[in-house]
Amino acid sequence: MHLLLTGGTGFIGQALRDSLLAEGHQLTILTRQQNLASSDRCRYINSLDTLVREAAALDGVINLTGASLAEGRWTRSRRQVLWDSRVELTRDLVAALQQLPEPPRILLSGSAVGYYGHPEQSELDESSPPGSGFGSELCQAWEAAAQEAAALGTRVCRLRLGVVLDQGGGALSQMVLPFRLGVASWPGSGHQVLSWVHRSDVVSAMQFLLAHPACEGAFNLTAPAPVSQRQLCDALREHFRTWLTLPAPAPVLRLALGEMADELLLEGAHVIPAALEDAGFGFGFPQIRDALAAIYGGGAPD
Ligand SMILES: NC(=O)c1ccc[n+]([C@@H]2O[C@H](COP(=O)([O-])OP(=O)(O)OC[C@H]3O[C@@H](n4cnc5c(N)ncnc54)[C@H](OP(=O)(O)O)[C@@H]3O)[C@@H](O)[C@H]2O)c1
Repeated sequence: MHLLLTGGTGFIGQALRDSLLAEGHQLTILTRQQNLASSDRCRYINSLDTLVREAAALDGVINLTGASLAEGRWTRSRRQVLWDSRVELTRDLVAALQQLPEPPRILLSGSAVGYYGHPEQSELDESSPPGSGFGSELCQAWEAAAQEAAALGTRVCRLRLGVVLDQGGGALSQMVLPFRLGVASWPGSGHQVLSWVHRSDVVSAMQFLLAHPACEGAFNLTAPAPVSQRQLCDALREHFRTWLTLPAPAPVLRLALGEMADELLLEGAHVIPAALEDAGFGFGFPQIRDALAAIYGGGAPD
């Protein structure tokens, strides 16, 4: 397939790019970066106009662009960047697809479990209602922009991603900073639920959705067994030598990070991947201990 990938230089996108190339697909990657070296089967472009100008024949699109939610306080200007890099870019993307001679058969488009906000109810599946707060509003608008492609006859899958874990970036590299210094830690009470997923399962699930024409709509991309922050801490302790347990107090996090502390760290959501499992997708890493063992190689601190 000829696939357009946005966010293909990111933490998820790089793993996806490598896997799609290994599967024999042809990739066009939209990036702001200049001078990335294109090859026969993977070329980089800086503007959607390129696709329109050349009347590109795309079989599918995977849309993962977005400025990092965890980088800096959510000031008014930062919110605008977070919004524009997801919602506006997705609108521009759908507008460009509309101008192609043939629309792509499928669009996989990013979203996050932040869609649900942080309700008390125990399990959230794809039928659960959206929540409130900036993170949820952002995901709702991002999904709505992607869904517009359905009017072109494109199959749209909206991917509500949990916190993606692996080496070499993402949230885990931040989470383990105190552990590397010998301090076991969790944010706030530690009872809040983290809906996580191993990066290799994210890549496999995207390939599964590409290959299954009956799949469309919202898909929670989270492991079937979410954990509390304290359970995550216990699982991480198996890989790092710690000599002190020191939770990060909620007021300190709020002072340092503002609203972002509540939305990303102090509140949780227990999200289950009902739609993916109903469709027959099997997770390689359903349990946190197995995922961390794969990431840290069975126990040695790194
Ligand atoms: N990783 C997670 O745990 C997680 C969880 C839930 C949802 N998600 C969502 O999944 C998507 C991919 O996640 P990721 O972890 O791979 O993200 P990432 O590593 O931060 O990469 C995202 C890509 O977005 C582009 N980008 C960054 N800032 C931008 C800006 N201001 N304007 C336009 N483009 C910008 C960059 O591409 P260029 O530099 O090539 O332009 C970057 O490679 C994101 O939208 C994220 O919100 C991720």
